Amino acid sequence: MQQAKVTVIGAGNVGATAAQRLAEKNIANVVLLDIMGGVAAGKALDLMEARPVELHDRMIVGGDDYSLSAGSDVVLMTAGLARKPGMSRDDLLAKNAAIVKGCIEAAYKHSPNAIFITVSNPVDAMTQLTHQILSAKGVPNNKIIGMAGVLDSSRMAFFIAEALNVSIKNIQPCVMGGHGDDMVPVARYTTVAGIPLPDLLPEAKVNEIIERTKKGGIEIVNLLGTGSAFYAPASSSVEMIEAILTDRKQILPSSCMLTGEYGIDGVYVGVPAKLGKDGIEEILQLKLTDAELKELQSSADSVRTNVAKMAELMNAAA
Ligand code: 2OP
Repeated sequence: MQQAKVTVIGAGNVGATAAQRLAEKNIANVVLLDIMGGVAAGKALDLMEARPVELHDRMIVGGDDYSLSAGSDVVLMTAGLARKPGMSRDDLLAKNAAIVKGCIEAAYKHSPNAIFITVSNPVDAMTQLTHQILSAKGVPNNKIIGMAGVLDSSRMAFFIAEALNVSIKNIQPCVMGGHGDDMVPVARYTTVAGIPLPDLLPEAKVNEIIERTKKGGIEIVNLLGTGSAFYAPASSSVEMIEAILTDRKQILPSSCMLTGEYGIDGVYVGVPAKLGKDGIEEILQLKLTDAELKELQSSADSVRTNVAKMAELMNAAA
């Protein structure tokens, strides 16, 4: 059987860590691409030289030549500038839009049938840009996905497990909305061994966890001093890729193009989605309260604002 092939664009911390996990977990062969071809080739070679110790069966190659990526099953777009302290995800908008556009166009040329997962920030807007480029070429919505909800949920799960001193395996978090300060962690749908979170923790503690989740990215940025989180973003991306390549039908929060779900139309927002071989195979519609729905719609509005800002900046630069 042919082994799956994943192209990771961007050999920075997120890309290189994702490449490492994809190979070491025996999920796929990896092509690591970067504008700095030597960095991508060097990291790929370094990872391959760890193979006799790690004993996995996957190949990693690196460089700046997109023809290496031909026929990929999944393209993971991680390239872009990372946030610095004091910088919001939105500050990255104009610079990363230009990077995403160039990379996605080049990757599509060699892998027109791939499923594209965007990680570059601000991720919902960058996924929308990916969609603008690829849908014009006939790529369906289900094959264009953004990664953020798995990361935000994972952070929330960690905070809950710590607060309750229970196994992380018991936590089923639910975070919806855009990957910004107005993301929507939904406590009612977050369970611990099936028990709704609000039944286990006082409201103040739940709210504290929700706030920490929303600011999870900047907490790491401030600690690192330079650069942003990468271990958890890489793990989260790899979980989505594994669900797709194994056709697992796993429900994972993903940034999806909504077409009327939750009363939202024509914008990428994080919602629970079933991931399998076709990418997003189903968008789940939770019964939200009016207040939760309002929060989700307002988060979608923020993405919309970002997308409009991005279009303006791109037009001005053209
Ligand atoms: C984060 O939340 C960088 O947006 C990314 O850590």
